Amino acid sequence: MLRTFQLSPNGWRSWLLLQRGYNPIMRRTQDWFELARFGLFIHWGPYARAGWEASWPLVGGVSTLPFGQDIPAQTYHANAEGWQPDPAAPEKWIAAAAAAGMRYAVLTTRHHDGYAMWPSQYGDHGVGRTAPGVDIVGAFTDACRRHGLKVGLYYSLPDWHHPAYPPFTDAMRPYVFGEYPEPTPEGLAEYQAYLRSQITELLTNYGRIDIIWFDGAWERSPEMWDADGLESLIRKLQPEILINDRLPGHGDYATPEQFVPPEPPVEPWETCLTMNMSWGFNPSDDHYKSSTVLLHTLCEVASRGGNLLLNIGPQGDGNIPEPQADRLAQIKRWMDRHEEAIIGTTPGLKPWQFPGPTTLKGETLYCHLLMQPVAPVSVRGVPVRHVQNVRVLGQDHPLPFETRIPVLDELNDVDGLGELVIDVPEVMRDPVCTVIVVEFDCDPAGFEPEAS
Ligand code: GLC
Repeated sequence: MLRTFQLSPNGWRSWLLLQRGYNPIMRRTQDWFELARFGLFIHWGPYARAGWEASWPLVGGVSTLPFGQDIPAQTYHANAEGWQPDPAAPEKWIAAAAAAGMRYAVLTTRHHDGYAMWPSQYGDHGVGRTAPGVDIVGAFTDACRRHGLKVGLYYSLPDWHHPAYPPFTDAMRPYVFGEYPEPTPEGLAEYQAYLRSQITELLTNYGRIDIIWFDGAWERSPEMWDADGLESLIRKLQPEILINDRLPGHGDYATPEQFVPPEPPVEPWETCLTMNMSWGFNPSDDHYKSSTVLLHTLCEVASRGGNLLLNIGPQGDGNIPEPQADRLAQIKRWMDRHEEAIIGTTPGLKPWQFPGPTTLKGETLYCHLLMQPVAPVSVRGVPVRHVQNVRVLGQDHPLPFETRIPVLDELNDVDGLGELVIDVPEVMRDPVCTVIVVEFDCDPAGFEPEAS
């Protein structure tokens, strides 16, 4: 009997990815994540009230956070007493994120300092004690849903405050990576139960959670975290959830930190990036990247098939610090016109084909000009006979363009690859990044030339 099989659109996509070296069976990322491209990271905790970097000051700082403070552990923890985080704050962040075109958000529910931003029944360090009645995780998940953003919860595996972990004390300074006092066997069992209980609360009490974003795995072995056990618990509680790669051995996607990977990882990925050099609200750090640099990073990340998780560190009162709010506003301005070239796109052409990042949506190619051209620009190695339209994104009238094709192809009437030469008049250029849209009637990246 002749057996035929049919593939759904998603099946075709998986098949295509397989051809390009991905194994869809190993992949758990949902389609939404792979096309989301832009999300907001929020580091918020009692440290914001004092204007300190998140958690690291209590262990004496870390070289990668050069503006971080050095605060004795007791002083650091005492700062949490009486903090009343404003439950209205998440609405402001998420409204700004949605306006800037972001599709998801990740909140620090508990950073390394152990302070829980929801009223946890387990452990007494968090809003449950210092601000009874306040639930920032609840306010955050509600705000995300109101604005149609996917919900991510950051959760630190280490807890430098928990009695069984054991807690970090000043006697343990300096902090050395890979060297950390081990808990007693009873302490370890207690700590593992605490992690499971808190994670169960987070993944049970707030509806569907799209991402759990772990951090700090370097302090213990996968066995000590019970990474396998945590993974099955998480998948049981939230079958659709994505886990980042910081739960050792179990990640659904990679999380390069503070840089755009030169070779994009084969698996789905997300670069997390600060606007200045701190995760938390740190007024002593004014080493900010400009909104142009942040947007260029977004274009680069999108063109390589990744997502950008851009961080804000709200102030103690919940407001977004002015330099960060300004940058979000600038990003919104550009995204209002150019979002189509970022969100929902796949990687475009190879680097030699255009002097800048490119993205693709079906048969539409987006060429991102990160520099002001000093001459007409070329898009090379594309099916020039299949061009329907060339324009600047956000502007209606077609741009004139010239084509160059190999002479022999022309003589033999080959439907082949050639070069588009496009002159973008100065008045049509965007000061941040001009996007040239080229519409084809075929997939320009997968086109196979044919003699006609
Ligand atoms: C690092 C830091 C932490 C920060 C995280 C974000 O792992 O320890 O402070 O939250 O990066 O990726």
